[in-house]
Amino acid sequence: ERRAIGRAHSKLILMGEHAVVYGEPAIAVPFDAVHIEAEIQHLEGPVLFISDFFQGELEKMPKRMQGFVACIKAVCETLNQPIAHFRVQLKSTIPIGRGLGSSAAIAVALVKGLYSYFQKPLNRLQLQDFVDLAETFAHGNPSGIDREAITANHPIWFERQKPVETIRIEKTLHIVVADTGRVGDTHAAVSSVKALYSSNQDQTKATIEQLGQLTHQSRFALTSGRYDRLGLMLDQAHTLLQRLGVSDPGLDHYVQVSKEAGALGAKLTGSGRGGCMIALAPSLEKALKIERELEAIGAENTWYCQLTNEVIDY
Ligand code: MEV
Repeated sequence: ERRAIGRAHSKLILMGEHAVVYGEPAIAVPFDAVHIEAEIQHLEGPVLFISDFFQGELEKMPKRMQGFVACIKAVCETLNQPIAHFRVQLKSTIPIGRGLGSSAAIAVALVKGLYSYFQKPLNRLQLQDFVDLAETFAHGNPSGIDREAITANHPIWFERQKPVETIRIEKTLHIVVADTGRVGDTHAAVSSVKALYSSNQDQTKATIEQLGQLTHQSRFALTSGRYDRLGLMLDQAHTLLQRLGVSDPGLDHYVQVSKEAGALGAKLTGSGRGGCMIALAPSLEKALKIERELEAIGAENTWYCQLTNEVIDY
């Protein structure tokens, strides 16, 4: 029986979320503790979509998932295949709407799965165009960092309209990721920063530029192994993100608890207002302690992410 699978890992933004929308740089890393598989299987009749969030015919998918519908249709049209006679099943451990790039990851897995099912070669540019299509529905004005980080197998330096660069870290990075369990709306968070920019331009512009400077400094800290300095930069970035209005008391509390448990620094990651937080730990042992403390205050989930220069193959 005809069947194919497309896979994608998730991502973490280390530095520069939101500011990246305004042309500042950002640093993101692949995060494969959570991932997704899209299985495409032959099935007569209209396209059937099966996932945790929707089960049914493609044509009946709710409006907020139209990006995925558009993506599937665009792939079939590009490959001259009928939009029928297959079933899509998503199996994912990436929590949705938590700043871990679930929507870009779903799109990547879908496109890879479909190309494999139709036995056609897929190049990176084609993949990215399809993901952009899906992301534009979901986010309005995506910077493109999610698309790049989801398809990268190493830490990246990202700036809008510029080629992506690989970052080589000096030594192993111990990161704790904690999920507040609360869904953050990327579209709403990006729009709120835009509104702030219009109403209070000078101050907002200054905050965004400071985030950009911190991202530059963080790159140096990463490549020179000065992780104590990097920790301070994470803290400063969190304060600046608070100023942009994209943190919330829950995330602030996670940051504080992580610090008390020995983190070198901590900040929200992704679009914020719910979603996830990252903490930089000085060692594996400390990372495990931070995880325990965050679970004790009710984190829905925590993960330990050990980052090296080893290529993550997906
Ligand atoms: C979302 O992962 C990152 C944001 O900067 C939005 C974007 O860059 O498209 C909040």
